[in-house]
Amino acid sequence: MRSLFAQLALLATFAFADDITVYTDTALAAGWENWSWSSDIEFAATDLFEGTSSISVNSTAYSALSVKLEGTFPDYQGLRFDIAGAQPDLTITVSSSVDGTTSANILLSTLSTSITPDAFTSLLIDFRNLPGTGAALGNGTWDRITWQAGGNGDIYHIDNIVVVESIVIQPLFLSAEPLAANTIAVTTQGDVDFSTLAVSLNGQAVKVLNTSAAYNPVGTPSKSITYLTLAKPFVPGTLAITAANATFNFTLPTVQYASIVQQVSVPISPFIYGVNFPTSAQYVQDLGVTMSRWGGNAVTAYNPAGQFTNAGNDWYFENRVADPPDADAWVEWVEGAGSGTLLTVPALDWVAKDATSYSYPVSVYPDQQSTDPFLADAGDGLLPNGSWVSPVPPQTRAYTPWNSSMASAWLQGLANKPTMVTIDNEIEIASNTHQDMHPIPMGYDEELARVLEFSKAAKDAIPGVKVAAPSTCAWWYYWTSDVGYTDNAAHDNIDFLPWFLAQMAASEKSTGQRLLDFLDIHYYFAPDTSSNNDTAKALRLRMTRSLWDTSYVDESWIGSDPQNHQWNPTAVELIPRFRTLIDINYPGTKLSLSEFSSTADTDITGGLVTVDMLGIFGQQQLDSATYWSTPDELGPIGLAYWLYRGFGVYFGSSTAQVNLASPNPDTQGVYAGTEGGKLTLVIVNKNPDTPIAFDLANLPFGSYFVRHFGGEAGIAKWQTTVTISSTNYIVIPAYTAVFLKQN
Ligand SMILES: *[C@@H]1O[C@H](CO)[C@@H](O)[C@H](O)[C@H]1NC(C)=O
Ligand SMILES: *[C@@H]1O[C@H](CO)[C@@H](O)[C@H](O)[C@H]1NC(C)=O
Ligand SMILES: *[C@@H]1O[C@H](CO)[C@@H](O)[C@H](O)[C@H]1NC(C)=O
Ligand SMILES: *[C@@H]1O[C@H](CO)[C@@H](O)[C@H](O)[C@H]1NC(C)=O
Ligand SMILES: *[C@@H]1O[C@H](CO)[C@@H](O)[C@H](O)[C@H]1NC(C)=O
Ligand SMILES: *[C@@H]1O[C@H](CO)[C@@H](O)[C@H](O)[C@H]1NC(C)=O
Ligand SMILES: *[C@@H]1O[C@H](CO)[C@@H](O)[C@H](O)[C@H]1NC(C)=O
Ligand SMILES: *[C@@H]1O[C@H](CO)[C@@H](O)[C@H](O)[C@H]1NC(C)=O
Ligand SMILES: *[C@@H]1O[C@H](CO)[C@@H](O)[C@H](O)[C@H]1NC(C)=O
Repeated sequence: MRSLFAQLALLATFAFADDITVYTDTALAAGWENWSWSSDIEFAATDLFEGTSSISVNSTAYSALSVKLEGTFPDYQGLRFDIAGAQPDLTITVSSSVDGTTSANILLSTLSTSITPDAFTSLLIDFRNLPGTGAALGNGTWDRITWQAGGNGDIYHIDNIVVVESIVIQPLFLSAEPLAANTIAVTTQGDVDFSTLAVSLNGQAVKVLNTSAAYNPVGTPSKSITYLTLAKPFVPGTLAITAANATFNFTLPTVQYASIVQQVSVPISPFIYGVNFPTSAQYVQDLGVTMSRWGGNAVTAYNPAGQFTNAGNDWYFENRVADPPDADAWVEWVEGAGSGTLLTVPALDWVAKDATSYSYPVSVYPDQQSTDPFLADAGDGLLPNGSWVSPVPPQTRAYTPWNSSMASAWLQGLANKPTMVTIDNEIEIASNTHQDMHPIPMGYDEELARVLEFSKAAKDAIPGVKVAAPSTCAWWYYWTSDVGYTDNAAHDNIDFLPWFLAQMAASEKSTGQRLLDFLDIHYYFAPDTSSNNDTAKALRLRMTRSLWDTSYVDESWIGSDPQNHQWNPTAVELIPRFRTLIDINYPGTKLSLSEFSSTADTDITGGLVTVDMLGIFGQQQLDSATYWSTPDELGPIGLAYWLYRGFGVYFGSSTAQVNLASPNPDTQGVYAGTEGGKLTLVIVNKNPDTPIAFDLANLPFGSYFVRHFGGEAGIAKWQTTVTISSTNYIVIPAYTAVFLKQN
C-alpha cells in the first residue's frame, strides 16, 4: 500500500545513520524485545503493509504493544512510525525500565485525527516538543516504547518504527499577536531573522522601538517568544505584521469602556486556588497551590492501618495499596510545601481489609457484564443486562469494619494534622459507587447521622480542625436523596441540602458545638460539551455564568427540568444560591467546592474556563475550592493556576471592583486584584478568533509584569515586563488569558 504522509509542515526529518530501527519487516529489529501485554500481535502481517509486512495489533482494553531495547536511547530526538486503523484511541509513552520513569501520555489524537484503516499515515513525535503540552521528554535512561489501547481496545497496523537521532528545526515565525498597549508577542522556532519583520497599523508603517531577548519557558523549550515594543499605541483598525514568509493580520476592534476601583475591594479566601492530590512539593510551589485535597471515590475505603483502599465501581471493586499510601506523610509534605490540606475521613461501616481482595469474583458470580482485563476473576458486579448481581456480596470479602471511634483514633494519632477534613466523599451515591459496601440507597437521615457522628469524632480528635461536608456529587443530589422523592416528602418536602444545613444548625443549638464549618459540594457543569466542536467550546466558555449569574438559564436539563423547590430554579447561580441558603439555614457556614472541573483538561478552552472560574471564585467570595483531579502542570489547567499564582507572583489578596460599560460574560471575563495598593488584572478573551480591547479607567501608568497563555502563542508560560503609558486601548488576543501586575 502507498503511504499517506501526514502534513508535517513545521518539521523536516532526515534519516541519520544513527537512527535506531525498531521494526521494518517480518520481526522486531535486533536488540528489541516484545514487552506487550493482553494483545494479539502479528509481527509479519501481510494484509496491509509497507515493504513486505507490518505489525498487526489487536489490544483489549488498556493493553498494549510495547517494545524494549536491550540498551538505552538517551539522547535521541524523536520517534517515527506509520500507522493504519480507524483512528485508534492510543496513548503513546516512552519509559525507562531502568528507573521506572515514564514520559507524559502522548495521545495519538494530538498527532493526527485522520488516521484511516486502509492506508498508513506517517507520524513523528519530536522529543523536544511532545504533542499535547510541548514539553520536552528530557534526558533519561529511555529503553521502552508503548502504544496503549483505550478503554474499548484498539485494532491497528503499525510499520516502519524508527527512533530518530536528529530532527532539523526549520526557522519559522509561528505567530505575532498584539498584547496590552503597544506590545507584539512573536513566537518562533529556530533561528529566525527579526530584521525581516515589519508592522503596519491602518496602512501606516509603525516603528519597533525595541525587541526583547527571546524567552523559552523551561517546561516547553521548543518555541520561544520575543516581545516587540511599538513606537505608537494600538488603535482600532487593521494591524498587519509581516516577517520573512509569514503574515499575521488582525482587525483591532472598537474599544470597550471599563473602570477599576481599587478602593472598593473584598478579601479573597486564601483557599480557592486548590487542587486534588498535587504531585510534588515543587508542583505546589510552581503553581502556588493553596489547598490540597485527599479525596475521590477510593478514599471512602481507605484503611489507614494497612494503607489499603478499594476502587469501588471505578475499577472492579478491587482492593489495592492506596496511592498515595500514607495520609500522615501526605499531610506533612503538602503542608511543608505551603498548601493547606483537606483530608477525607471515611464514614461508612467498612474499609479495605487488604491490598488484593475484590467483591465480585467470577468464580462466585459467573455471569457478569465485564471483567478486569488484568485480573480475569474480578468482575464489575453487573449482570449483562446492567442489573446488579445477587445476592449482594458479604462485605467481609473485601472489607474490615470501620466506625467513628476508629476514625477518631486514626486522626488523633496523626503526627501531621490537616487544615480541614471532609466527612467522606459523595456517600449519597454509595449504593452505586460502593454497592458492595453499602447496597441500600442512602437517605437524608442516614447521611445526616453519619456527618454528625464523624464530625464530632474528628473535632474531638483534632481540636480546631474545620469540617466540610457532605461533599455532594451533583445538582440532582443537592436536592434529593438516592431514595428518591419519597424521601423529600418524608422531610416536609424540603430539598436535601437546605434541610441538611438546618439540621446542622439545630444540632449546634442543642449541643453548643458547631459540627459543620464548610458546606462542601462538588460542582460539574451540566451541559454536555464532550463533542468539543466549536459550538461545544463556546458553550463551555459561557457556562461559567452558572457559578454566579442569576439571569443565566442553564443550558442543560436543569434549564428545563430543575427538579427542586428552589427560587429561580432553572438558573444554577451556584455561589449566590448557596450563600443565600446558608444565610437562611445556618449562618456563618462557609462554602467549599472540593471538586470542580473545566470539562476539558487538555483543550485550551479548559484553561480559559479555569481562569474565568478562579476569577469568579475570588469575586464571588467562595471560601475553598479544589480542582478535580490533578491538573497537569504544563497543560491548560495548570497554566490557569500559574497565571494567578505561579512561582510566587500572586493575584492580590483582595478582589477589586470592575465596572464594565457593556459586560459580555459569554465571551470575556475581567477580574481585578489588589494588595498593598498595587493592582493586578486578569482578563480572559473567550472569542476564538477576534481580539478585544478595553479603555481601562484608573489603571495606573507604569511598569507591569505580564503573563499570558493561549491564542496563537499556545499553551506555554509566556511572560515579560511592559510599560503602560496609555490605558485607553489595552488589547487581549483571541482565546487568551492575560495577567498584568503593577510593579
Ligand atoms: C508479543 O507479546 C504478545 C502479548 O504478550 C503476545 O501475544 C505475542 O504472541 C508476542 N509475540 C511474539 C512474537 O513474541
Ligand atoms: C480482536 O480480538 C478479539 C478478542 O480479544 C476478537 O473478538 C476480535 O475478533 C479480534 N478482531 C480482529 C479484527 O482480529
Ligand atoms: C541531555 O543530554 C544531552 C546530550 O548528552 C546534553 O547536551 C544536554 O545538556 C542534556 N540535557 C539535560 C537537560 O540534561
Ligand atoms: C522597550 O521600550 C519600552 C518603551 O521605551 C520600555 O518600556 C521597555 O523597557 C523597553 N524594553 C526593553 C526590553 O528594552
Ligand atoms: C495582511 O495585510 C496586508 C497589509 O494590509 C495585506 O497586504 C495582506 O494581503 C494581508 N494578508 C492576509 C492574509 O489577509
Ligand atoms: C520561510 O522562511 C524560512 C527562512 O526564514 C525558510 O527556511 C523557509 O523555507 C521558508 N518557507 C517557505 C514555505 O517559503
Ligand atoms: C436482569 O436480569 C436479572 C436476572 O435475570 C433480572 O432479575 C433483572 O430484572 C434484569 N434486569 C433488567 C433491567 O432487565
Ligand atoms: C468501633 O468498633 C470497636 C471495635 O469493635 C468498638 O470497640 C467500638 O465501641 C466501636 N465504636 C463505635 C462508635 O461503635
Ligand atoms: C456540537 O456540539 C453541540 C454542543 O455540545 C452539540 O449539541 C452538537 O450536536 C455537536 N455537533 C456535532 C456535529 O457533533
